[in-house]
Amino acid sequence: MGSLVLTQPLAITTSLCPFPAHTKTTLNTKRRQSHIIRRSSISCNNHASSNQSSDETSSQYRPQLGKVERRNVLIGLGMTGLGSNPLALANPVNGPDTNICNQPKLLDGTPLPDKCCAPKSSSDIIDYKPPPFTKLRVRPAAHKADKEYIAKYNEALSMMKGLDDTDPRSFKQQADVHCAYCNYGYDQDGYPGVELQVHFNWLFFPFHRWYLYFYERILGKLIGDPDFAIPFWNWDHPDGMTMPAMFTSDPNSDLYDVNRSPKHQPPYGLDLEYNKDNLCKPPKPYKQLVEDNLATMYRQMVSGASQQLLFFGGEYKGGEEPVNQMGTIESTPHNNIHVWSGSEKNPNGEDMGNFYSAGRDPMFYALHGNVDRMWSIWKSLPGKNNRDITDCDWLNSTFLFYDENAQLVRVRVGDCLDTEKLGYVYEQVDLPWLNYKPRAKSSTLLRRQTRSADQSRGGLTPLTDFPIKLTKKTTVLVARPKKGKRSKAEKEKEEEVLVVEGIDFDMTKAVKFDVYINDEDESGPGKSEFAGSFTTVPHFSTNKKKMPNVKLTLGITELLEDVGAEDDDNVFVTLVPKSGNVTIGGIKIVFLS
Ligand code: C2O
Repeated sequence: MGSLVLTQPLAITTSLCPFPAHTKTTLNTKRRQSHIIRRSSISCNNHASSNQSSDETSSQYRPQLGKVERRNVLIGLGMTGLGSNPLALANPVNGPDTNICNQPKLLDGTPLPDKCCAPKSSSDIIDYKPPPFTKLRVRPAAHKADKEYIAKYNEALSMMKGLDDTDPRSFKQQADVHCAYCNYGYDQDGYPGVELQVHFNWLFFPFHRWYLYFYERILGKLIGDPDFAIPFWNWDHPDGMTMPAMFTSDPNSDLYDVNRSPKHQPPYGLDLEYNKDNLCKPPKPYKQLVEDNLATMYRQMVSGASQQLLFFGGEYKGGEEPVNQMGTIESTPHNNIHVWSGSEKNPNGEDMGNFYSAGRDPMFYALHGNVDRMWSIWKSLPGKNNRDITDCDWLNSTFLFYDENAQLVRVRVGDCLDTEKLGYVYEQVDLPWLNYKPRAKSSTLLRRQTRSADQSRGGLTPLTDFPIKLTKKTTVLVARPKKGKRSKAEKEKEEEVLVVEGIDFDMTKAVKFDVYINDEDESGPGKSEFAGSFTTVPHFSTNKKKMPNVKLTLGITELLEDVGAEDDDNVFVTLVPKSGNVTIGGIKIVFLS
C-alpha cells in the first residue's frame, strides 16, 4: 500500500509528462532497448517537482543513451510514491506487442477456436489526436431513450455487424478487442512473455473509455452521423436497475443477444452485490434491492473512494505484474453486473459472464458507458482527492485501436481524462445514491461494549493462523495503527484502509466474499457495518491460473465513525464467503494518503 501526495495543481502535471514519440511498429526491438535504458536511469515519479529540467521534450524518451544518462537524477525525493519504492523509474505500459498473439482459452483450458488479436495493419501506427467537432455528443440513459434513437442505434449496429469479419471495425472485431486486451491475447510491448491485462489495476477506466470512444465513432461513421452517441445503462438509478428494454424487448433487434441470463430478464431486478450462488435463491424484495443498491453506490463512489488508488485500482508499470487491486467500481458493481448478465446455461458464462466473450453482447457497451460516467462523476464530487492520477507512468500508458477509418492508432491515457475533449458528455440524470449514507444497525453501539470483553471467547480466528481457506464465515480481531478521533482535515488527508491481502483464488470461477466490521450477523450491504466485497469475473490466463499479489482495499474511515468505533483499539473483521474458493493471506489496517 502506498500513497500519492499531490503537491502541485493538476493542470501543470500533464505537461511534465512528455510522451514518447512512437512512430512505427517496426521499432519494437529498439524500443525494448530503450526500456532497459529508461528503467535503469530515469525517475518520473516526481512529476510535480520544480526540479524537472526545462529541456524535457519527447526526444529524450527515444533510445539515445547520452541524453538519457544526463537525466540520471533521482527526482523522487519528497514524494512518497505510489508503490513501495519512492525512486521508481519511468515505466508506462506501452500497449500490446502487435507481433505476438496468444491463444485465449475457455474456462476448462480448451483453446478458443480463434485468436482474438486485432488484424495486422498495412500502414504505420499513428499517434492519435481526437479530431475537432462542432457539437458535443450526449450519451443518453438507455431506459430513457426514445424509439427514434433506438432505431438509429439498431441501424448503426446492423451496419457494423454487416461489415466483413476481417474489417477491424466489424462487430466481431470490436468484440474481439475485449477478448484480446482482457483475456490475455496480448503481451506487453517490449516484454515478450509478459501478459497485458487492463483489469484489476489502474488501466481499467482509461482502457474502456478509449474502447467505447472508437466503438461509438465507428457506429457514427457507418450511419453518416458524427453526433451519434452510445447509450449508458443507468444501473445506479432505481429506473435503470433491470436489463434496459432496448436490449431485451425485440429478439429480432441487433441490440438483442440470446446469450444472456434467461432468469434475469426484465422485470427481474439487478442486484449490484449479486453473486453466482444467489442464482437459485428468491430475489430480494424490490424495495430492499433498491435500498441496498443505493447504499452500495454510495460506498463505492463516496465513502469508500476518498483516495485515488481506492477508486482507480492498483498501479501497473511496464513489464511488471500489476498491484492486483481493483478500484471500487471495477470490483462492485461492474464485476457483479457481468456475472449477473451472462447466461447461466452456458458453461463459460457467455456472453457477459466471461471476459473473452463480453464484447459480443451490445449491452456490454452500455454497462461500460455507465462505468465511464462514474469516472466523470467521481471527479466532480467535492472530495479533495477526487481527481486524476498524476503519475507519468499512468498518463503515458498507451493502447492501440482501429479508428473509424480503419487506421490503427496509438492512444495515451493522459489524452482521455476529459470527455469533453473527446467530444462527448453524459445526459444529466439525478444521483439518488449521492447522500444515501447507510445506517448502522441499532444494536451496534450497545453490542460494541460487550465485544471487547468478548475477545477471549472462542470462535475468533487468530491472525497468526493466516493464510486460511475461507470456507466459512471467519471473524478476526484486527488492531488499528492509530486510535482516537481524527479531525476532518486529517481524515481527508489520510483514509483508514482495511487491506485483505494475499487473496488466492481460481480465476476461472466467479468469486465473491463480503467483509463486515463489528458485525457477524451478515446484515447486508444496506448497513454501515458492511465494508465491501471482493468479486471477480471468470476468465482464463494463458500463463497462469492464479494471479499473484491480489488485495482488496476498503476505505473505512466513515464506516468507523458510523458504527461508533473511532476510539477502539481493535475492530472485529468478519469475512463471509459467497461464491468460489478463496484463500486469504492476511488482514491489516493501514493509512493511505
Ligand atoms: Cu473489460 Cu467490463 O470489462
